[in-house]
Amino acid sequence: MDSHYAARKKVLLFSLVTFCTFYNCYASVVNASQTAWLSVNVSDSRVRKIPHTMFGLSFEEINHSGAGGLWAELVSNRGFEAGGQNIPSNISPWSIIGDKSSILVSTDRSSCFDRNKIALRMEVLCDGNGRNICPAGGVGVYNPGFWGMNIEQGKTYKVTFYVRSLQPMEMSVSFVDSNGLRTLATADITDGNVREWTKKEITLEAKGTDANSRLQLTTTKKCTVWLDQVSAMPLSTHKGHGFRNDLFNMLADLKPGFIRFPGGSFVEGEWLVNAFRWRESIGPWEERPGHFGDVWQYWTDDGLGYFEYLQLAEDLGALPVWVFNNGVSRSEQVDTSIILPFVRDILDALEFAKGDPTSKWGSVRASMGHSEPFDLRYVAIGNQDCGNKNYHGNYMKFYDAIKGAYPDIKIISNCDGSVQRLDDPADLYDFHVYTNANSMFSMAHNFDHTSRSGPKAFVSEYAVTGNDAGRGSLLKALAEAGLLLGLETNSDVVEMASNAPLFVNANDMRFTPDAIVFDSSKVYGTPTYWMQHFFKDSNGATLLNSKLQPSSLTSLLASVISWNNPEDNRSYLRIKVVNFGSSGVILNVSINGMDQSSIEAAGSTITSLTSQNVMDENSFNQPKKVAPITSPLGKVSNKMNVILAPHSLTCIDLLRKSNFIEAVASEDLHTSI
Ligand code: AHR
Repeated sequence: MDSHYAARKKVLLFSLVTFCTFYNCYASVVNASQTAWLSVNVSDSRVRKIPHTMFGLSFEEINHSGAGGLWAELVSNRGFEAGGQNIPSNISPWSIIGDKSSILVSTDRSSCFDRNKIALRMEVLCDGNGRNICPAGGVGVYNPGFWGMNIEQGKTYKVTFYVRSLQPMEMSVSFVDSNGLRTLATADITDGNVREWTKKEITLEAKGTDANSRLQLTTTKKCTVWLDQVSAMPLSTHKGHGFRNDLFNMLADLKPGFIRFPGGSFVEGEWLVNAFRWRESIGPWEERPGHFGDVWQYWTDDGLGYFEYLQLAEDLGALPVWVFNNGVSRSEQVDTSIILPFVRDILDALEFAKGDPTSKWGSVRASMGHSEPFDLRYVAIGNQDCGNKNYHGNYMKFYDAIKGAYPDIKIISNCDGSVQRLDDPADLYDFHVYTNANSMFSMAHNFDHTSRSGPKAFVSEYAVTGNDAGRGSLLKALAEAGLLLGLETNSDVVEMASNAPLFVNANDMRFTPDAIVFDSSKVYGTPTYWMQHFFKDSNGATLLNSKLQPSSLTSLLASVISWNNPEDNRSYLRIKVVNFGSSGVILNVSINGMDQSSIEAAGSTITSLTSQNVMDENSFNQPKKVAPITSPLGKVSNKMNVILAPHSLTCIDLLRKSNFIEAVASEDLHTSI
């Protein structure tokens, strides 16, 4: 038995004994030194519908989340623009195959694309015969992608590039392993006349697998050849939309109510010139200039652009929340007196997303394959910009223009409305919290005393950071679970919440910890990712009135929801409890207004997220060391004793008899608790 399996088995045994009915309690197994009571009143009319948008995702182009991550493009710096528009330019991570006796590589500004003029020039000095014979395999260039391309046997890849040559072209396009010795797929392309820029597109089927492959373009023929916009895409992406399947599925499994994009500080830029610009990120991918994200210090070709973000939201069944730059970067601000062109730019973007296909920008969207408008209902004016001198002035210009053109769009302000009224009108206000575990857990009560009228909160970035968090500890996840239980309880004033950052490429761990870790071929969820699974059915569910006692036991937090599962069309009662303390707790649960006969034992479960050490983390070697474990409840009762392990998150799902109709949830009652 390997150690991973052994560890899992231990946790499983542990969690199997954490549940017991009232008369058969396994209190002796876990040292439960404390006792608490949770009472739920199912027939209490003081219930609340949790917003459908309550829990979602915050996607930022950070840590190579998109470029080299969710966006499946394998080539990094496909247009050779990353070194800047001046020549000579740095072509990294491209490398040269051959030495100076056989090939000279440089950049010039001869591209056929107006917005990205840099092209690669290769002067091949060697030949197939004569005095300077090319080395076996030829000379040329290769691209290692983002720390290696994942090429898999039997899978097909579309390679596209633009080429021009003074002589007839003979080129090999190949995927090879990391040291260039083993060819995984190859094709020869010849063309007698490529004197003008010509697009070449081929499909390669891999005959071998290597997660650290590279793409190379080589020749054994003396020539002068230019290359530009070299792309390699796996054919199998989510719906063919360009999203890496495994990473997309991780997101879809969370059933997100919304997805915020593309940042974060990525939206702001350190300098305005480097901020994300929607207009530069739409249209044919070859024509996009790309940009250097100077906050997170890497180049993106902007294959994942404004259109693709909207498509991603649609594919996830989540509402898009677009965060746009309001003329404020981290080191620079546009004066309100000259902000109008920026405002017009955003109105164009909204027309692109929402306009009729016959409108100017709606027609551009339609030409990209989406004639129906996207369901864009939320926009955020900036990211973390409230304290900036020009924010208020700029904000009002954007606010008035957007509300004038699109009165239904909900506008999110960067200013914190949780403690005092906002100075400016807004539908929601953005709230970010990065702190240690204890403070995060206490944040569960942050909105208890917030005014019940006025804009709603969007907790768009929350995370435990620092020593408590490691690279994604159980402790981090439990503290964050505490926050989310508090947000559920306060879902009359909190409309949305998302953890941040969402993704990290293991080769660029710039901002850690994150919810999902990946490399070119593998992915795992940190405990924070798994914690969010406990909340994924809360969107649109009914929050029931519950009471946890004694109130002095501050390390416990709970919430109870009633929800309908569309997959089996059944109704469930879900009790979630986080034990943030280091002692086990006997929790006496009593459910009033529901007798035992209305619960089905088969189908009722208990799920627990815990581990032997509160600082335990997941890794590529042990991807599910800390992950939820679900067991059947066996006996069910409306009076139960549950033993909560120290440092654990527990979820009890009670399946209601099939004749139960979830009237409350479907009627959308607004009675406040
Ligand atoms: O989530 C990482 C960063 O933290 C975001 O870009 C920024 O909004 C916050 O400071």
